[in-house]
Amino acid sequence: MKIFIDTAEVKEIRDAASLGIIDGVTTNPSLIAKSGRKFEDVIKEIVEIVDGPISGEVKATTTECDDIIKEAIEISKIHKNMVVKIPMTKEGLKAVSELSKKGIKTNVTLIFNANQALLAAKAGATYVSPFLGRLDDISTYGMDLIEDINLIFNNYGFETEIICASIRNPLHVLDCAKVGADIATIPYKVLMQLVDHPLTTIGIEKFKKDYLDSNK
Ligand code: G3P
Repeated sequence: MKIFIDTAEVKEIRDAASLGIIDGVTTNPSLIAKSGRKFEDVIKEIVEIVDGPISGEVKATTTECDDIIKEAIEISKIHKNMVVKIPMTKEGLKAVSELSKKGIKTNVTLIFNANQALLAAKAGATYVSPFLGRLDDISTYGMDLIEDINLIFNNYGFETEIICASIRNPLHVLDCAKVGADIATIPYKVLMQLVDHPLTTIGIEKFKKDYLDSNK
């Protein structure tokens, strides 16, 4: 499973990238706003940290097909690894269809059912981003959506890849890996939670104690 980090905080990206486990980065308008920096500035820094797909979303106010296409072309010019994130709307699908013909990579986001993912794949999306955490938040099994999309994409051999998004905890990561999802995009905090286990810590301490005792 490819691991992307879901943040616009370059400090978090640098730290996670130093582990050698990061395959890409996803951002969105809320994450960019939280960084307190301009979209172009933060994206230009991110592309120099991670040599992999970097998702940057069109402005939240860019909603018409022609405007989305214009903005997507500009975003794609920032760096060869840029992937343009486009919300799942009718105008967004129209834009994705045109952009895929131009060879511009797209990530259709804010996907909450498998039919949306199917349409995005048929439109030529490079990636789809189902938000499993936000479904869990409303008492709906987010992993059911991941499984449905995975089944449909495998049924028809779609090349579109699934980026499991809106990940809330380590069990989401585990479940995504168990169902064979292509990618999980993980917030920094959750990513760091994946590293440690209390028995690992206890074992390290015992090894250290035994070593020191035997080398007094
Ligand atoms: O990439 C999408 C992701 O950032 C959304 O996560 O926690 O806002 O549902 P969240």
